[in-house]
Amino acid sequence: MQTLMDAKNLSVFETYEALVAATADLFVKLADQSIKERGKFITSLSGGSTPKGLYSRLAENQTSAKVDWSKVVVFFGDERTVPYTSPESNQRMITELLLAKVPLLQENVFTLSDPDMDPKQTAIDYERRMHEFFRLSGDELPQFDFMLLGLGDDGHTASLFPGSPALQETQRWFVDNKVDKLNTVRLTTTYPVINNSRNIIFLASGKGKAAVLKDVLTGPEGKYPSQKVSADNGKLYWYVDKDIASEL
Ligand code: 6PG
Repeated sequence: MQTLMDAKNLSVFETYEALVAATADLFVKLADQSIKERGKFITSLSGGSTPKGLYSRLAENQTSAKVDWSKVVVFFGDERTVPYTSPESNQRMITELLLAKVPLLQENVFTLSDPDMDPKQTAIDYERRMHEFFRLSGDELPQFDFMLLGLGDDGHTASLFPGSPALQETQRWFVDNKVDKLNTVRLTTTYPVINNSRNIIFLASGKGKAAVLKDVLTGPEGKYPSQKVSADNGKLYWYVDKDIASEL
């Protein structure tokens, strides 16, 4: 089992642009590998601002041409309870920057229905669609090939925020999660699914998070939600830029 503290998982890149380029190369490599071995590349994409450069890069012809998008499956790692049209919507951002620009098959893109409606029901619906797609038996867990995660300045990841109920979830795959500090409900993939991924990629950048990254990677465990991420059946990558790594 690879944990955060395993320094060899950490790759530090000179600039954000270099970080994005390297992450895009990793996506291409893992996609090629997954499609060769299993005929598809199942991804869970994260929101926020950090991955925007990655999505744009993946949509650029020079990179996009290297991926067999017809075999790529897209789920959203987490979402805010806002309409698709909201500038806060992860689905909107990821669709505009990437999904609308590459030849994915419609049936391979799993959008959340009405995230701004009843979050509980939306999470139940999404989880049902995950079960239908993965078609597993008993308590088997789905295995994503590319689980992209970000890091919040409070050490959250996906929409697993400090002190939120979803941190304790051990059975469900995707849940609604009340986030008191934001006075909102979020929708998020849970640890059992995240930690079962073949490849977990933390993509983080910026000086503003240097202190929290140092704490997450070298401080006492159990303090931040992102520290509970561990690649129990795969590989964990920390892809960061020099700014965020400046206190390591
Ligand atoms: C979200 C994300 C969240 C994000 C972090 C970092 O919906 O916001 O999934 O986990 O990755 O908050 O966000 P930035 O990249 O904007 O700093």
